[in-house]
Amino acid sequence: MDAVSGETSLSDDGVRVIAIDGPAGSGKSTVARRLAERLGLGYLDTGAMYRSVAFAAMAREIDLADASAIVEVARASDIEIDDSSVTVDGVDATTQIRGPEVTRSVSTVAAISGVREVLRVRQRAWVIERGGGVLEGRDIGTVVFPDAELKVYLSASAEVRAERRAGEVSALDYETVAADLAARDAADSTRQHDPLTQAPDAIHIDTTDLTVDEVVDELIARLG
Ligand code: CDP
Repeated sequence: MDAVSGETSLSDDGVRVIAIDGPAGSGKSTVARRLAERLGLGYLDTGAMYRSVAFAAMAREIDLADASAIVEVARASDIEIDDSSVTVDGVDATTQIRGPEVTRSVSTVAAISGVREVLRVRQRAWVIERGGGVLEGRDIGTVVFPDAELKVYLSASAEVRAERRAGEVSALDYETVAADLAARDAADSTRQHDPLTQAPDAIHIDTTDLTVDEVVDELIARLG
């Protein structure tokens, strides 16, 4: 890997990467976790990295309109993500990165190209260190690992996605969750840098009426 750009050629390094993208509530995290377990690979939730930068910026009371200050936060912050917890600059942020404040500001932070550049380099380094992995996010198959072995785009109806998320976040009612999801989908899909979009060679699975195991079985079958 080129240490400066983070550019890497998967075929040269022989690493196995599975890229899973899609909007909020489409089933990415559950599917990616279970697929990683079945394949004996590591799993990386790249959304947790963007959420961690938003958390660090808010903790330092940085104005979300100050893009260069937020890029500095992304560069300087130490983000540790493991299977059950997220630590930002030594502070356990596992719960707060999923809270309503971070959820409402994360798309603004994720639209900043300098932030994306910093995190992209870390995501590629994470894969190289482990010799592969299952990564989920918005731009994994399109930008971070365009030559991944398998690229997956998960979707689900807006109603089912909001129901799933409302079930996870008991403090918020369905209407609030649905409105937040719609706003975040719009921001993530229309931003200038690395918008959420399906890679032309990605498998598209609509998870609206499928169980997690049905989706994972389908992906394992595609891997052959
Ligand atoms: O879990 P949920 O689908 O609600 O979102 P997430 O995966 O935690 O991602 C949070 C936010 O981070 C998204 O709404 C995007 O704005 C941003 N994100 C991104 O821009 N690129 C990624 N690869 C992953 C997340």
